[in-house]
Amino acid sequence: MSQGLVTASYIVAAVFFILSLAGLSKQETAKNGNLFGIIGMAIALAATILNPATSGVEWIILAMVIGGAIGIRLALKVEMTEMPELVAILHSFVGLAAVLVGFNSFIDIQPHEVSEVVLVLGQDLHTTLESAKAAFVEASQVQQAEHLTGAMLNIHLVEVFLGVFIGAVTFTGSIVAFAKLRGLISSKALMLPHRHKLNLLAVVVSFILMVMFVQAGGAVTPLILMTLIAFAFGWHLVASIGGADMPVVVSMLNSYSGWAAAAAGFMLSNDLLIVVGALVGSSGAILSYIMCKAMNRSFISVIAGGFGNDSAAASGDDTVGEYRETSAEDVAEMLKASDSVIITPGYGMAVAQAQYPVAEITKKLRALGIKVRFGIHPVAGRLPGHMNVLLAEAKVPYDIVLEMDEINEDFSDTDTVLVIGANDTVNPAAMEDPNSPIAGMPVLEVWKAQNVIGFKRSMNTGYAGVQNPLFFKDNTQMLFGDAKDSVEAILKAL
Ligand code: TAP
Repeated sequence: MSQGLVTASYIVAAVFFILSLAGLSKQETAKNGNLFGIIGMAIALAATILNPATSGVEWIILAMVIGGAIGIRLALKVEMTEMPELVAILHSFVGLAAVLVGFNSFIDIQPHEVSEVVLVLGQDLHTTLESAKAAFVEASQVQQAEHLTGAMLNIHLVEVFLGVFIGAVTFTGSIVAFAKLRGLISSKALMLPHRHKLNLLAVVVSFILMVMFVQAGGAVTPLILMTLIAFAFGWHLVASIGGADMPVVVSMLNSYSGWAAAAAGFMLSNDLLIVVGALVGSSGAILSYIMCKAMNRSFISVIAGGFGNDSAAASGDDTVGEYRETSAEDVAEMLKASDSVIITPGYGMAVAQAQYPVAEITKKLRALGIKVRFGIHPVAGRLPGHMNVLLAEAKVPYDIVLEMDEINEDFSDTDTVLVIGANDTVNPAAMEDPNSPIAGMPVLEVWKAQNVIGFKRSMNTGYAGVQNPLFFKDNTQMLFGDAKDSVEAILKAL
């Protein structure tokens, strides 16, 4: 494949990636968006492997077969509720790759390494045609490295330093996010004393190390020191963000992983990696911004490790008074007597896989002439659009699935609200208690309806670890049990 064809393929792949992002922004076009992404990635991989400058193709193919086999197995096995964990751990791989590419790039520009490579090349050039081809490729890299002097060398050193920094922060940050989402560590915010000063110190010291690194023309000690600091910084940054802000953390790490890939693209002089990294980085940043707005959080505060979020220390998980229990039969009667019903699903619906009986109940109630709609909180579940995907899977019509902003004013005119496995996203404490860790987060104002039914297995708190006063209100009744069993029991009673 000629170099021109490789470049043309990279441009085509980049266009497919842009189309993919555009497709993924709407439910109706999401499938096509995925398909475009797959086509773009296939073109990018083929062009990279067939690129004449690529050497060691057999190793790349071996790595792809092993990686692909693990990836396919994981993707087939993963539950919908585990997707954010999978995404978080995949981000950590991108971060680690950027760190490794950075160190590799750094070793490449070391003078003694260059002379060793030249020696090896000298022998190679007299051997087989194949090794001569590989030698040619390496020779051009060596030439490139030798030409890196003055400003170009400085720019390359900054690329390496920043690439390793972003990669290291992404790596440990994503591992902590994975551990929090998987429940391996508490989802509550870690509140170290002087934590903001520690974060600032890490950034300032890393900057000083970068200056030392560049001034020395690429010294290994500042690079290693910064890598260790960046590992600790990434870990602390995510550890100090509370459970309710995890959606922003996941999309923020998504953005970081994009910038880490772009940095690796600069180090490897690979245009496609730069374009794709920038696409992921900027779309992740936009998603984080949208999430912050939806949750009434300051974007800066979240990316700076929960800066200004000190009220999160006062977590209220105490019981709040008495609650009332109900039965599936009584809920069925209540539904039949209602003119309008809103269903607000949450993470528990995903765990129970209750979306199918929920779709059945919806059909049945609509057939009885009852107005049924869904109210979806932007961070319900564990990944953006989680509830929309589940409801689409169960064939609930799109036009009755409304976003929080579209439905929040209608609760006061609604007879019955079914809160199916949702907790934090319907918690009035967010609006009523300024000391709550979720204070200020907009929520579905379900308590304004005539009757509210809470579907849960116990009185345990939601993901943010905060007790929910909704379940103790006079107009709320609890239907305990697995959400799928409860909804199926109501369906039977209907
Ligand atoms: P949560 O606050 O997580 O509450 C889910 C509730 O479902 C729990 O109270 C649990 O109570 C109940 N539940 C669990 N399994 C159940 C089952 N099999 N049957 C019935 N109930 C079950 O849910 P939410 O309202 O959707 O809020 C989402 C939370 O996750 C927010 O804090 C959000 O910030 C965070 N988060 C979101 C994302 C994204 S991007 N959406 C990513 C990471 C974190 P019991 O244990 O008593 O049953």
